Amino acid sequence: MSSTFDQPIFLQQLNTQWLGHSVRYFEELESTNTYLKKLPSDKIEHGLICLTDHQTRGRGQYERNWESVKGQNLTFSIGLTPADTRRFHVLTLACALAIVEKLNEFLNASCAAIKWPNDIILNDKKTAGILTEAVFSGNIFDRLIIGIGLNINQKKFSDGLEEIATSVSLEKGEDINREQFLGDLLNRIEYKYTLWEQQKPSLIKTINRNIIGYGQWVGLKIDNELQDELYKLLGIDENGALLMLNRDGGIDSFSYEQIKLVTN
Ligand code: BTN
Repeated sequence: MSSTFDQPIFLQQLNTQWLGHSVRYFEELESTNTYLKKLPSDKIEHGLICLTDHQTRGRGQYERNWESVKGQNLTFSIGLTPADTRRFHVLTLACALAIVEKLNEFLNASCAAIKWPNDIILNDKKTAGILTEAVFSGNIFDRLIIGIGLNINQKKFSDGLEEIATSVSLEKGEDINREQFLGDLLNRIEYKYTLWEQQKPSLIKTINRNIIGYGQWVGLKIDNELQDELYKLLGIDENGALLMLNRDGGIDSFSYEQIKLVTN
C-alpha cells in the first residue's frame, strides 16, 4: 500500500502541547534531516516536524544510506531547541523508547527493543533507526535534529536486507494507518521529552530495561576492535554514557561513538 500522507488524519490523532504543531510536508525531498539542518535559524521552532513520502538521499548512521519505499513508511525529522545542550544521547534513546513502547502496545506483545545505540528491533529484525544531529553556529549550539526512519507498510526489502529488516505491517499481518501511527508516536515522544527535560531517573531505568543485552555479558568492539573478554552491560548513566562491568570487577564508561555491542 502506497499513499500520500494525509495530514488531517494525522492532526486528529495528535494531542501534543508543542510537538508537531508545525509540519513541513514534501512529497519528495533529499533528506528530512538535511532539510532541517539547512533551514535558517529564524525558521526553526521547537517541535517543528519535517516529513516526506520519499527521500532521495536518506541518511543513516555511520554515513550509510537510509532506504525507504515511497509512500509506505515514516521518514521524518524533529527540530528541537532545548535549553539543556547536553545529554542528547539520552534524548535519542528516549525517542527510541517511545517507539518501542508504541510498537509493543500496537502489536500487543513484548516484541520490540532498543539495539544500542540507535536502532529499534522488532522480533529480531530492524524496523526503525534514528539519526540525531546537532547544528552549531560557530561554537554556539543552534538546534538538534532527531531523524526517524520507521518501516510501516513496506513488505519487500532489497537483497541482503530481507534477513535483517522488517516493518510493522509485516509483523502485524495487515496494512497500518501511517498518519494515526505518527500522531500517537509524537504524543509519546513529547511526553518522553518532558521526562528528559526534568531529568527523571525513571526514564533512564526504563531505557535500560529495554536495551538488548541489559544485565548480560556481551561482546564489545572498542574503536572497531573486538575485545577478547566479555563485559556485563550495566546500562546508560544519566549522561548517556554506557557503563560496562569488566572481568576484573571494574566499571568502564564509554561514549556511544567509541563502542559497538556484540549481542546474540
Ligand atoms: C540508521 O539506522 O542508520 C538511522 C536512520 C535514520 C533515517 C532517518 S529517515 C528520516 C531522517 N532523514 C534522514 O536522512 N535520515 C533520518
